[in-house]
Amino acid sequence: MSEQLLDGPARDRIKTDTDATLFVEAGAGSGKTHALVDRVTTLVLRDGVPLRTIAAVTFTEKAGAELRDRLRVEFEKARKGPAGPLADEALDDLDSASIGTLHAFAQQLLLAHPIEAGLPPLIDVLDEVGSSVAFEERWAELQQQLLDDDSIAEPLLLAMAVGVELKHLRSLARLFGNDWDLIDERVLVDPPELVAMPDLTGLIAAAAQLGGAVDSCRDPEDRLLPKLHAIRDLGVMLEAATDQESQLSYLQALRGLKVGKIGRKENWPDVAKMRSDCAEVVEVAGSLVELLLDACLRHLSHWIAERVLESAEVRRAEGRLEFHDLLVLARNLLRRDASVRSALHERYERLLLDEFQDTDPIQIELAVRIAAGADGDAPDWQDVEVPDGRLFVVGDPKQSIYRFRRANIATYLTAQDLLGETVTLTTNFRTVPPVLDWINHVFSTLIQPQEAAQPTYHALTPHRTTTPTTA
Ligand SMILES: Nc1ncnc2c1ncn2[C@@H]1O[C@H](COP(=O)(O)OP(=O)(O)O)[C@@H](O)[C@H]1O
Ligand SMILES: [Mg+2]
Repeated sequence: MSEQLLDGPARDRIKTDTDATLFVEAGAGSGKTHALVDRVTTLVLRDGVPLRTIAAVTFTEKAGAELRDRLRVEFEKARKGPAGPLADEALDDLDSASIGTLHAFAQQLLLAHPIEAGLPPLIDVLDEVGSSVAFEERWAELQQQLLDDDSIAEPLLLAMAVGVELKHLRSLARLFGNDWDLIDERVLVDPPELVAMPDLTGLIAAAAQLGGAVDSCRDPEDRLLPKLHAIRDLGVMLEAATDQESQLSYLQALRGLKVGKIGRKENWPDVAKMRSDCAEVVEVAGSLVELLLDACLRHLSHWIAERVLESAEVRRAEGRLEFHDLLVLARNLLRRDASVRSALHERYERLLLDEFQDTDPIQIELAVRIAAGADGDAPDWQDVEVPDGRLFVVGDPKQSIYRFRRANIATYLTAQDLLGETVTLTTNFRTVPPVLDWINHVFSTLIQPQEAAQPTYHALTPHRTTTPTTA
């Protein structure tokens, strides 16, 4: 079949060149998973690689089950042929083979090395619902600590005075929890700043100066006049205030003043300047509030981030793991333990990753370190050298933009750059020509390659010429 297709040589290469590390790139319905099945079939039936030493990672459980079914069909077909014994062995291995989601795979890695991973003998993996319940319990406790902890009282009060609510902090705790592996490098890089009121002298002086201009107004009914009075009075109160809460409330009042185009030209020596001076005071007050809020939020974020990390640590120690914990703990284990890398390198001779664009970027680090074995200890996975043929990656960069939250196109492009050769599939088996023409048009105009941000768009060629049949 592949000979008749325009991209036949690429398909043949995927099926037969099992010594090479390949990165297959193509759109949905171009037969990527089909090609992956072909490659596993060759590995097992031609190269004699036992199925139990192959790991295939899929984005969903359903896709994993489908992959297993497609492989079963291939092995069943081969039973009567010359590779019969290998096919029989593969069929025996099939049910327990490492074919499934990244989370299941990470769990397998951890279960194979619980002591090295710092886990208790029994671990409990919480599903989405269980994790949500656990989060709510943690948040209830965190909220109580937040309200009880004197060291955080000041930034909390100030932030709340500016409109921050507990529900915002709850979202922060949730976001940090979802990405707790990034907390150290992104949130806790610097010690928390002390929350100090920024210098107000410039603002106070400007307010006093504007206050002095009230006498230049020729009409006591002018609508700009009360604004000047307000600015003057708030400036005086700001100067007299001794605590940050009251300073903040005066700043808030100042930033809330609306000046706009009020005031009549004939009432003032220079109404335009008067307006713009008022507007400037309002703007400066606004930016001082932002500055203070920023410092408060940094402080609160730091505090929350530390506690989120502590609770991840508790989950590890108790062996009550959530999905994301599985990935991070497996990755950490592979980063630090050469003997584990070595053992997993022996166990998984070949790693195949389907729907690479959708999956958490931790996946590539797991795969690369297993593929490299004991030597794969470079701090950055991008510096780890991967022996030829051990990895096979399949992905569709067009889909990555809006699928999985942590997946990102930069990781995709880096991996593609570093890992072996890219093979592109262009025949599409699912879409009929009119739709395809439209897709080609839209994407080739929209998608222009861009360094580390946007992959090249490859036009698809139709396989079907009429309406779709059921696949
Ligand atoms: N080489 C091929 N020849 C004929 N049909 C194919 C081929 N590759 C894939 N198909 C069919 O095209 C459809 C999509 O294939 P699949 O591998 O699931 O695509 P993808 O993973 O790229 O979305 C399936 O119905 C599959 O049977
Ligand atoms: Mg697929």
